[in-house]
Amino acid sequence: MVILITGGCGFIGSNFIRVILQAREDVEVINVDKLTYAGNLANLLDVKGHFSTRYRFIKGDIADKDFVKEVFEKFDPDWIVHFAAESHVDRSILEPEDFIRTNIYGTYNLLEFSRMSWPLEDSRSLAKKRFLQISTDEVYGSLGETGLFTEKSPYDPSSPYSASKAASDHLAKAYFRTYALPVIITNSSNNYGPYQFPEKLIPLTITNARKGVELPVYGDGKNVRDWLFVEDHCSALLCVLDKGIPGECYNIGGHCEKENIEVVHTICDLLDERLGRTEGRPRRDLIKFVTDRPGHDRRYAIDPSKIKKLGWQPRVSFEEGIRTTIEWLLENTPWVENILNGTYRDYYKKQYGESVNGHP
Ligand code: NAD
Ligand code: DAU
Repeated sequence: MVILITGGCGFIGSNFIRVILQAREDVEVINVDKLTYAGNLANLLDVKGHFSTRYRFIKGDIADKDFVKEVFEKFDPDWIVHFAAESHVDRSILEPEDFIRTNIYGTYNLLEFSRMSWPLEDSRSLAKKRFLQISTDEVYGSLGETGLFTEKSPYDPSSPYSASKAASDHLAKAYFRTYALPVIITNSSNNYGPYQFPEKLIPLTITNARKGVELPVYGDGKNVRDWLFVEDHCSALLCVLDKGIPGECYNIGGHCEKENIEVVHTICDLLDERLGRTEGRPRRDLIKFVTDRPGHDRRYAIDPSKIKKLGWQPRVSFEEGIRTTIEWLLENTPWVENILNGTYRDYYKKQYGESVNGHP
């Protein structure tokens, strides 16, 4: 079984590669990643060592048609697990173009080459194929004070990021309806945990609070996100690959709604407890309320009943997950520092040499 994983050098993709290689001895993983600023080969150093016969990395851009064609011709994948994306909302507000290119056009390329490579007329062979489109709850837009997103909630994206994800989900659905491509879509809430790039709220706050640097909180800090530990997201994806039905969508979340300010307070207090106060002052003093994000969705919250019927449930509470994340970042100081000083970008040269162009 060959699984093509896109964006495997990012946060969720790298966690998922580790999980699936451990869970399934019958799979071989081909990880295709462009190594944008968010892609980090250091996220997979242990995987490269432990699973050298079942894991392969190829540097490349999913928006490059020739590259995607070559990958399909060479590896003939059975499953596609598609994580690759520009993922940060703030960046999409400043420079939307890469979001359109990667998230929409890149997804189109993968769908199109899957359609051309897979035996769409032979239902028995097709039954073994899967195209898993990893999406987000942000496609649904914002909730008011009550209610939950279900799989039937209308798409109503607010940012260029979420609009590009919504567009790619629509394409994926259309490929199921038009060509019977066995597509499944998952819409997850906010993930956190090891290997998350320190631009996102939780790792950014931990990194800054540790150093005693200002902690920016957008608007009034009362926007609500529904937090999911990354390993629980990965186990949900394994469950959907195993038991999900083509053409269906599954919302993934663990009923863990928190206001941003509550998350930031928790991190400050845990770091004070773990490291002592910074210059005698509580870390909460570092919080600075700053201008709000334009189009900032007020509240996200997932109804996960449908995926729970497949037998999945989250295992890690926020209290446990946030402590694990803090400990991981404290124990992996070089991982953070190499990102902050830019040297993480040298890993490719160190591991693969300058002459390798990354093509298969
Ligand atoms: P990330 O930004 O950490 O990683 C994205 C990865 O994709 C990087 O390794 C990057 O190099 C790669 N990539 C980007 N453009 C590429 C291209 N053109 N070709 C090949 N590779 C490319 O993202 P993440 O947080 O791990 O998110 C992964 C997926 O999960 C995304 O599709 C995102 O929309 C979705 N998602 C994320 C969250 C979350 O909370 N982080 C929640 C729900 C859904
Ligand atoms: O809901 C799923 C989405 O979660 C994913 O699809 C996205 O890829 C992922 O980036 C995440 O999007 P958010 O915009 O919710 O995540 P972010 O960490 O950027 O922000 C979380 C909340 O914290 C949001 O309400 C904005 C706020 N925030 C963020 C940052 C970076 C701050 O108040 N201060 C900050 O410095």
